[in-house]
Amino acid sequence: MSGQAARKLDRDKLKYFVKQTGDMVAAGFNCAITVLGDRLDLYQHLSEIGPSTPEQLATASELHPRWVREWLQHQACVGQVEFADGLFSLSPEAEAVLLNEDHPAFLMGAFDSAVSVGPAVDRLQEAFRTGLGMSYDEHGPSCACAIERMGAFTKNHRLVPELIPHIETMHEALTVGARVIDVGCGGALSTLAMARHYPNSEFVGYDISEHALERARGNLEEARLPNVQVANPLDEPMPQDESIDFATTFDVIHDTPYPAQLIDDIYRSLKRGGVWLCEDIRGFETFEENLAKHPMAGMLYGFSVMVCMNSAMSTPDGAGLGTLGFTEGLAREMTANAGFTGFERLAVDNPLNNYYVLSK
Ligand SMILES: C[S@@+](CC[C@H](N)C(=O)[O-])C[C@H]1O[C@@H](n2cnc3c(N)ncnc32)[C@H](O)[C@@H]1O
Repeated sequence: MSGQAARKLDRDKLKYFVKQTGDMVAAGFNCAITVLGDRLDLYQHLSEIGPSTPEQLATASELHPRWVREWLQHQACVGQVEFADGLFSLSPEAEAVLLNEDHPAFLMGAFDSAVSVGPAVDRLQEAFRTGLGMSYDEHGPSCACAIERMGAFTKNHRLVPELIPHIETMHEALTVGARVIDVGCGGALSTLAMARHYPNSEFVGYDISEHALERARGNLEEARLPNVQVANPLDEPMPQDESIDFATTFDVIHDTPYPAQLIDDIYRSLKRGGVWLCEDIRGFETFEENLAKHPMAGMLYGFSVMVCMNSAMSTPDGAGLGTLGFTEGLAREMTANAGFTGFERLAVDNPLNNYYVLSK
């Protein structure tokens, strides 16, 4: 109270603040309730049967009508479901964001992520005191799964048709046959997307998370491709002999505890003339700019405290960059320090990520 003594409470601003804070609480509940809707296929059934009463949706989904009614009423109040003339329905926009895994606006993975890190609240109190954060694996398997789902669209629909063609001669090199490492591969959707399209090239996905590797191994088994494997670099280190033509990272550098070391390792793995495609979060250079201008700053700093900076602080000497911490300026500086001579930001329209192409 003491530091605020000179500022008087403004009743109108208080009303606004209470409303805004209430909306934030509603958003917290909504993450859990949306994930329930996803897991119980409620959005799917609502989309299939069209405008419906709670009883109709309960019948279609074989769920208890009282629970379905309360869920629908909640979803209508937060604006995710429409309500008119006694019937609930999904708009095409809601279908894109909540239901259609192949739509670029699909956000269910972000809801999954928010819910998966809920139990970390107890553990993080200790992190705030000691400084030591949580590795990805400390969140359990659901976090790896959520992250994989969140980034699936880029891997499944943009990487091969859109991103690789932006990199001069890379499509040709991969078609003929190249050695590729996908560092921090998570569930290996990116590794698999490339391996599927370029059968003459060889791909290895590396990740230090055993939960991510478990997902990756499951995805590899399903895909049954001869030219792709995954490994934990703590057991099988990445090659350091300038034998790799192409390296990729998708949202890895900002949340790894040792980004400078990882960048050095990638540099040493690459042949002369080799290339690294680095996807990392799009942000401004300063907090002030993110606060004033970044449309997703609140969500991204949320991810940072719970997941990314948390992971980047998971060793006592972790760099702790955080979700918005690997800015273009820092990327230029750190990659030049490692020895990369070329730096290009691809002209790709993506509100969340930047794509850097580094050449050796
Ligand atoms: C945000 S996730 C991204 C996963 C995947 N690339 C995707 O886009 O879905 C970051 C991943 O990087 C992994 N990671 C962090 N540091 C790493 C390192 N030094 N070597 C390999 N993987 C690392 C984490 O375990 C985690 O799975």
